[in-house]
Amino acid sequence: MKLIYGVLAPLAAAAILVTSAVGQGNGNAAKGKQAFMDYSCYACHGFSGQNGPGNRLVPMKMAQVVFTAYVRNPKSKQMPTYSTKVLTDAQLGDIWTYVRTLPDSPKAEDIKLLKDIQAEVGK
Ligand code: HEC
Repeated sequence: MKLIYGVLAPLAAAAILVTSAVGQGNGNAAKGKQAFMDYSCYACHGFSGQNGPGNRLVPMKMAQVVFTAYVRNPKSKQMPTYSTKVLTDAQLGDIWTYVRTLPDSPKAEDIKLLKDIQAEVGK
């Protein structure tokens, strides 16, 4: 029995690693966009993922598992809890994939209008 377990445990661990690695890149951004709208993420995080009362989601630095864990158990009561009954891990993977396609906003020094104004008022 011990021998079987010794062989199976590493295999199971490898399987988990493989499936989670696939999970990282397997999300569907189009479905994620739909879910982002349907489940009101946009209402607090904005269509751009970086405005509204919720935190900025762009650029997304969380790994998919961290993102999923957060949405299941947000830090404050300002964000609703999304259980597995509401959104599956796969759906959250789609949302995570979609958020990662959203472009970051430009840096202040890259905004021409801002530079023009600064030049005009002499900084
Ligand atoms: C009613 C407003 C509201 C809605 C709806 C909402 N959020 Fe949030 N979200 C927040 C607020 C406020 C925070 C920051 C603190 C907290 O956790 O409450 C946050 C934080 C987050 C964070 C952590 C960001 C970070 O870097 O700290 C993630 C990820 C996130 N939300 C994802 C989502 C997703 C995905 C959805 C939709 C399924 C969603 N949120 C819907 C309000 C909301």
